[in-house]
Amino acid sequence: MAQTDNLPAGPDLTNGVPVSSVPAAGVLAGHVEGNSVLLVRMEDGLHAVSGLCTHYGAPLADGLVIDDEIRCPWHHACFSLRTGAALRAPAFAALATWQVEIVGETVFVRAEKTATRPSRPHAPHKQPGRIVIIGGGAAGFAAAERLRELGYSGALSMLTADASAPYDRPNLSKDYLAGTAPEDWIPLKGPGFYANRQIDLRLGCDVTAIDTGARQVLTGSGERLAYDVLLIATGAEPRRLPISGFDLPNVFMLRSLADARAIVEASKGAASVALIGAGFISMEAAAALRARGLQVHVVAPEDVPMERALGREVGGFITSLHQAQGVAFHLQSVAKSFDGKLLTLGDGTRIAADLLIVGAGVAPRTELAATAGLAVQDGVLVDPYLQTSVAGHFAAGDVARYRYGADLIRVEHWVHAQRQGQAAAANMLGAGKPFTDVPYFWTHHYGLDLRYTGYAGSWDDVRIDGTLAQQNFTARYFRAGVLVAAASVGRDLENLTIEATLQSWSRPCGDE
Ligand SMILES: Cc1cc2nc3c(=O)[nH]c(=O)nc-3n(C[C@H](O)[C@H](O)[C@H](O)COP(=O)(O)OP(=O)(O)OC[C@H]3O[C@@H](n4cnc5c(N)ncnc54)[C@H](O)[C@@H]3O)c2cc1C
Ligand code: FES
Repeated sequence: MAQTDNLPAGPDLTNGVPVSSVPAAGVLAGHVEGNSVLLVRMEDGLHAVSGLCTHYGAPLADGLVIDDEIRCPWHHACFSLRTGAALRAPAFAALATWQVEIVGETVFVRAEKTATRPSRPHAPHKQPGRIVIIGGGAAGFAAAERLRELGYSGALSMLTADASAPYDRPNLSKDYLAGTAPEDWIPLKGPGFYANRQIDLRLGCDVTAIDTGARQVLTGSGERLAYDVLLIATGAEPRRLPISGFDLPNVFMLRSLADARAIVEASKGAASVALIGAGFISMEAAAALRARGLQVHVVAPEDVPMERALGREVGGFITSLHQAQGVAFHLQSVAKSFDGKLLTLGDGTRIAADLLIVGAGVAPRTELAATAGLAVQDGVLVDPYLQTSVAGHFAAGDVARYRYGADLIRVEHWVHAQRQGQAAAANMLGAGKPFTDVPYFWTHHYGLDLRYTGYAGSWDDVRIDGTLAQQNFTARYFRAGVLVAAASVGRDLENLTIEATLQSWSRPCGDE
C-alpha cells in the first residue's frame, strides 16, 4: 500500500543503509518510494518485505519476530519474512517482497520483486476427490482458501445459508455499524477470487441433512451433493429471548450482514436504541450507535459488564469508557416487555427505544451434526486434528468443541475460527497436525482496542500491570498460579509476547 501524505518511519532504503544497522534480532523499518519496507537479517542473508499488514494495514515493525516469521501487533496474523507468505489468519494476502542489493558495506532496497505465489514445500499427502464445506463464515472461508493454497486440486464446494459471500463479520459491530466503513470493505474477497480458485461457492444454500454413510449432503432445494471429505463450519446462532414484544419488526439480532444492514436502516430515523445484554458485541454496537448520534441504553442482569470474561476491574474500565460517551446502563436489570416504543424492565422502569438489539450470546449450530449421528456436546466434538467422531468429517470454528490443555472448550473468536479452518484444511489433506493455537480476540470501543490472548474459562487471580486510566495496561489471568490468559490495552507487543509464551506451553491432548 503506497503512503503519500507522510513517509513511513525510518531511513529511505533507496539511499542505502549500513549493513551493520540491520539488527541481528528484529527488523529495521524504512521506506522505498513511500512504501513501508522492513529489512531483516537471517542465516542466509538479508531479506526485505513490505512493512504493512495485508489485513488492516498495521505497522509490522511494531510486531514480534520469531525465527523467520513476523506477527502482526493488531490481530496477530503471521507472515514469513523470507517469502512474505501469509502463514496464519486473519491475513490472507502475502506481503510484497523486495530485492536486496549489497554494495560493499551498504544495503539498498530499490525494487519490488516480481510477484510470485510463495511455493508450499510439500504436495498434499491426500487429494480427496471432492471436499464440501458447510458454512461460508470465518472457518469455512479460511479452509477453502487454505485448501487451494496447499495445492488441493479436487472439486471444492462451499455451501452457505447466507445470501452474501464470506465477509468481515467483526466489522459489522464496529466501523460498518458506525457508518465509517463503506460496504466494499466488508467482503473478504471479490467474486473473482472464488472463480480463479475454482471454489464452487453457493449462496443461500441451506444444508438440511448430512448422510455420513452415503457421504452426501442434502440442501434445502432438494439437491444431493456427494463428498469424500466434509467440513462442518456452521458457526453459532444468536440466542432468542422469549420476552413479550421481542418478535416485533424493530427488534434485531446482530450476526449477519443482513442483520447489520437492517439495523443501519432502522437507526437512520431513530433517536434511541436499547441493547439487551452487555457482552462484547452489544458493547461494540453501543459505541457504533453512539457514533451515529443515537441515545444508547444497555440493559443487563450483571452488575459489571464483561466481568465474566475480563474480571471486575477491566470490565469496569470498558464500562467507564461507555459512560463517558453518554451510554446509560441499567444493570442488575432484566427486560420484561417491549411494545415497539417503550421497553419495560423487571422493576417497572420504562425506557423509550426506537429499536432494540438483543445480544444474549450464541449457541453452536449443531443440529445437522447431531442428526447425522456425530458426537455433540455443546458443540461438535473434535479430536486434536479437528476430526469429528466420524472419520473424514471435520468441524471448525464456533461450532467445534475440542480439548485445550485440561479444558474441553469451544471458542467464539474470528481469528481462532479462521485458524481452525486453516488447520482443518491441512488435516483434510492428510497433514496430521494437531491444532494447538492459543485463542486470540480483540474488541474495539471508541478508538480503543483491547487484545486478549489465551483462554480463561475460570481463573482465581488477576494481576494488572500498568494503569487503566491511562489506557496502558496488561491484565494477566492465573489459575492455580499458572498464567492462562492476558488482556492488554496499549501494549500490543506485550500481548504478542504473552501469546508466544502460552503457545510454547500449548500441547495437544495426550502429547507429553
Ligand atoms: C457482530 C459480530 C462482531 C464480532 N466481532 C468479533 C471480534 O471483534 N473479534 C473476534 O475475535 N470475534 C468477533 N466475533 C465473533 C466471530 O465473528 C465468530 O467467532 C466467527 O465468525 C466464527 O466463525 P465460524 O466460521 O465458526 O462461524 P460464522 O462466521 O458464523 O459462519 C457460519 C456460516 O455457516 C453458515 N451456515 C450455518 N448453518 C448452515 C447450514 N445448515 N447450511 C449452510 N450454511 C450454514 C452461515 O450462513 C455462515 O455462513 C464477532 C461476531 C459478530 C456476530
Ligand atoms: S492488521 Fe494485521 S492482523 Fe489485522
